[in-house]
Amino acid sequence: MSSINYSEKIPNNVNLSEDRTLQRALEQWQPNYLQWWQDMGPEGSTDYDVYLRTAVSVDPEGWAQFGHVKMPDYRWGIFLNPAEAGRKIHFGDHKGEDAWQDVPGEYRANLRRIIVTQGDTEPASVEQQRHLGLTCPSQYDLRNLFQVNVEEGRHLWAMVYLLHKYFGRDGREEGEALLERRSGQQDNPRILQAFNEKTPDWLSFFMFTYFTDRDGKFQLCALAESSFDPLARTTKFMLTEEAHHMFVGESGVSRVIQRTCQVMNELKTDDPARLRAAGVIDLPTIQRYLNFHFSVTIDLFGADESSNAATFYSTGLKGRFEEGKRTDDHQLRGQHYKVLNVVNGQLVEKEVPMLNALNEVLRDDYITDSKGGVGRWNKVIEKAGIPFRLSTPHKAFHRNIGSLSGVKVSPDGRVVHDHEWNQHVESWLPTDEDRAFVASLMGRVVEPGQFANWIAPPMIGINRQPVNFDYIRFS
Ligand SMILES: [Fe+2]
Ligand SMILES: [Fe+2]
Repeated sequence: MSSINYSEKIPNNVNLSEDRTLQRALEQWQPNYLQWWQDMGPEGSTDYDVYLRTAVSVDPEGWAQFGHVKMPDYRWGIFLNPAEAGRKIHFGDHKGEDAWQDVPGEYRANLRRIIVTQGDTEPASVEQQRHLGLTCPSQYDLRNLFQVNVEEGRHLWAMVYLLHKYFGRDGREEGEALLERRSGQQDNPRILQAFNEKTPDWLSFFMFTYFTDRDGKFQLCALAESSFDPLARTTKFMLTEEAHHMFVGESGVSRVIQRTCQVMNELKTDDPARLRAAGVIDLPTIQRYLNFHFSVTIDLFGADESSNAATFYSTGLKGRFEEGKRTDDHQLRGQHYKVLNVVNGQLVEKEVPMLNALNEVLRDDYITDSKGGVGRWNKVIEKAGIPFRLSTPHKAFHRNIGSLSGVKVSPDGRVVHDHEWNQHVESWLPTDEDRAFVASLMGRVVEPGQFANWIAPPMIGINRQPVNFDYIRFS
């Protein structure tokens, strides 16, 4: 197991010093990255000492160490999971051949596009979250936000390493462009729409890390199957870090719910107005946020029928979620899958070639996975003795990509006319008023062990530290 070389400017386990050209190229990119972090990273945080986890090895037991560091001094680096000797391609037209250690010329453009699209999401989320530190509900939460941010920065490093090492001059240009696009900017936006949305408050942040980082997990899992071995190895290590991001989201929403239920029981009411007056977020508002983040995120999987998806799979660039655990032929020719269409105002299932439906296959796997946490949130409500239940909306609800875009579907899956949509949309999606109310709760709480009124403290701290640990030392 190669450990990480910290004596170098760029920590790495890829023997970077043996490839002088690559090392020089990345060392030239490094100050631009740091400049981007200064400009677009967490606002006003440069002098804080933050209790962060830093990757120090790719050994599953003890790959990270914890300590207080200033974020600009975080050791962003390049870590790949160890190579698997004799790894074979296990799906698509090249099934059974040796995995590629270099990029085959004929797949160069598609692989580059896949890597750039993944890479673009990483700095985008840091940009989306950059003001949140100013309104953190606690030091513990602030630390978690910063942890997510530095690791998204490292994920950008992971993709830029691949671009520099395997794509020559084009790759270096893409590496620069990744630092130039900006989330939400009109003339040079991030590539995918969900990464141009605002993350204006902490409820949005927790929903984002639960739902949208989970999209990241599914994309990374699909890329971890890739025949291009360096991509598979780097995404496997990224997944190790990603788990914490989804934990931040799931536990964050769970703590918001817990606090709301507590106040509901204290006041013996489910009246949103009274709960809002008491400074907590009513459950219907949480449901509307959930509806928004779920629907925006499932759009990220792309069109339900896609010849690109078929090409990426057949050529071995991108597999399915848990490809290795599936028992079919891993080539899928002649197989079918059901996607949803609208015919005469009704949602109807339509069988299409499985290869063309692989975006939908990944989306459906994602939906199953994301329902798990919603079930756990409902347990919190149930335990409090409250009859309300949260649910994920129907997958046709509020879609902007694929054959379901342009149809109005209710959260329970009925195609509705414009007038019905307009009548109910305020109970289905967050309104300006909801967002303004949530924003009004966002004050900054940073005394150790103190929490904003609208969220319960966590059960345990980070890395077995107490909840009131000094996770951040402000200077
Ligand atoms: Fe990431
Ligand atoms: Fe993430």
